Amino acid sequence: MSKLSLDRILQSQGFGTRKYCRALIEDGDVAVNGAVVDNYKATFDTGNLVLTVFDEDWRYREHVYLALYKPADYECSRKPSHHPGVLTLLPEQFEWRDVQPVGRLDHDTTGLLLMSDDGPFIHAQSSPKRHVPKVYQATTAEPVTQALVDELLAGVQLHDEPAPLKALSCVQRGEHQLEIVLEQGKYHQVKRMLAAAGNHCSALHRSQIGGLTLESLGLEEGEWCFLEPEQLALLVP
Ligand code: URA
Repeated sequence: MSKLSLDRILQSQGFGTRKYCRALIEDGDVAVNGAVVDNYKATFDTGNLVLTVFDEDWRYREHVYLALYKPADYECSRKPSHHPGVLTLLPEQFEWRDVQPVGRLDHDTTGLLLMSDDGPFIHAQSSPKRHVPKVYQATTAEPVTQALVDELLAGVQLHDEPAPLKALSCVQRGEHQLEIVLEQGKYHQVKRMLAAAGNHCSALHRSQIGGLTLESLGLEEGEWCFLEPEQLALLVP
């Protein structure tokens, strides 16, 4: 636990520049554990600290770990070009904190997206050495056949890949529906694997990462939530 001045605390949580945070405090817009504090030099232990900023409560967090139910037509890239970026779905202070998506979903893919401002966490989660299974629901243009399922399980060769890539599991869920589990996170992997196996992915949804299911989070499309330690523990392979 560390003791910090209130202006530094607010700044660390993404509420703006030091100057702006000082003004917020002096204007009486900030409460600490329920009591308004208008002296920006006042110091507080950051453990168990709840800040109220413009009547909204925010627990102090050294880092944030978020889950977003990504809708279609949002881009994960830092500089989105054709659609709004996923950061526009989050409160503004997360952009100030430099929250980034953990890996990427294509602009037309929906589902579970992790986001964080913890660089080592993002790096570890995105590492190719980390074998966390990810579960996708793919809608296919052509009907799903047993031959397609068998081929995806046996492995398909993609351009630029040294060896065929296999699905960890692949189950037909409907005439045009496939549940596919992948361990790797290669660029457009599901779509490219389906194309290489002679079909076409017309819609894609990620429902699970490791043991963390989107359903368990109870989010609607476009909604986000904090992930707590017990949920983060489900991401460990
Ligand atoms: N595979 C894809 O093809 N697209 C995604 O968005 C995720 C996995």
